[in-house]
Amino acid sequence: MKTLITLRVNGKEHEVNVDPQTPLLYVLRNNLGLNGPKFGCGLSQCGACMVLFDGKANPSCLMAVERAAEMEITTLEGLVDENGNLHKVQQAFIDEQAAQCGYCLNGLVIASVGLLNENPNPSNEDIQAGLYRNICRCGVHARVIRAVKKASSV
Ligand code: FES
Repeated sequence: MKTLITLRVNGKEHEVNVDPQTPLLYVLRNNLGLNGPKFGCGLSQCGACMVLFDGKANPSCLMAVERAAEMEITTLEGLVDENGNLHKVQQAFIDEQAAQCGYCLNGLVIASVGLLNENPNPSNEDIQAGLYRNICRCGVHARVIRAVKKASSV
């Protein structure tokens, strides 16, 4: 049965009329038009759908939307500031060309922001450990690590 749920996404409140068990990812993409988070595995195993929940990166594909109502959600779109400036992690990924096909990019950027929220000055090992849930089949991991290091120094 559909229920009216209030979500706080990218600093704004949104009311959605959905089944409370609907995965948050579907609501973000289909109801709010936020296509940054991607559907990859749908099993919380690839990281493509990651968003920030109260500043921590986690998959959104298995999170029931009713649970997400209690949290501040930030998507890739919400990392850009009010003047249109990219987040330092987004800029560093561009500077280091840390993408190939781009499908995993949402999750890698979100996970990197979440990592730097917890550890502003990570070692290479910290970055590897922090991004272990993000699968990239193109193999750009070395560039991703450089990008996160660069963002941590800004
Ligand atoms: Fe959510 Fe893969 S689509 S982790």
